[in-house]
Amino acid sequence: MEVVIVPDAAAGGEIVAEAMARLLRRKPGALLGVATGSTPLPVYEALAAKVRSGAVDVSRARIAQLDEYVGLPADHPESYRSVLRREVLEPLGVGMDQFLGPDGTADDVQGACEAYDAALAAAGGVDLQLLGIGTDGHIGFNEPCSSLASRTRIKTLTEQTRVDNARFFDGDIEQVPHHVITQGIGTILEARHLVLLATGEGKADAVAASVEGPVASVCPASALQLHPHATVVVDEAAASKL
Ligand code: GLP
Repeated sequence: MEVVIVPDAAAGGEIVAEAMARLLRRKPGALLGVATGSTPLPVYEALAAKVRSGAVDVSRARIAQLDEYVGLPADHPESYRSVLRREVLEPLGVGMDQFLGPDGTADDVQGACEAYDAALAAAGGVDLQLLGIGTDGHIGFNEPCSSLASRTRIKTLTEQTRVDNARFFDGDIEQVPHHVITQGIGTILEARHLVLLATGEGKADAVAASVEGPVASVCPASALQLHPHATVVVDEAAASKL
């Protein structure tokens, strides 16, 4: 695992966006796995700036979703499909025909999970998966004690994650869904390159446990230690307990 410490969130965004741009120059049809949350926003802004300046072409790129709430209508502003359309696809000028995501509204949720794993495999697998990290060490929505071999499946959110994410639902935890679909840790580990981005002091404990702690399901992000090509990009604050 390579750990890159950058001065601030903007520098982290630039370095990850440049890694994505390099990949797309080498492989224009690359499948980029993207994450939601506040942390990756500087990445998407920096990548969109590169697209606008002509430094990278995303016309053949494909974008894959990491996780999704169960039961929110797809057009709900906080469904992750809507969030990614707003924060990633539209700024990049990438169409929904270039997008892969699980169906959080399916009656057969388990079937939707299996269909999504199959769709990722049929698309040739994820080339670069960008990950954030929860304050409890979760990646995607793989909460602590998720199997390190897990596949895409339904999960129940912990109270902590619902509290953390209530800010996207007018601060009202009652509006935060209880259930989600997430790529499993085993699914995530199949991506060719994993890039975990963490910024701010609030992530320092989770980063230290993931990078320097034992590989253990109690800290899902520690699974990155098992991957042959994992990069952890952290600002000074998130690195402060390393
Ligand atoms: C959610 C997402 C994760 C993300 C995490 C951290 O739980 N499912 O993919 O990494 O939030 O979000 P933030 O970057 O806003 O701290």
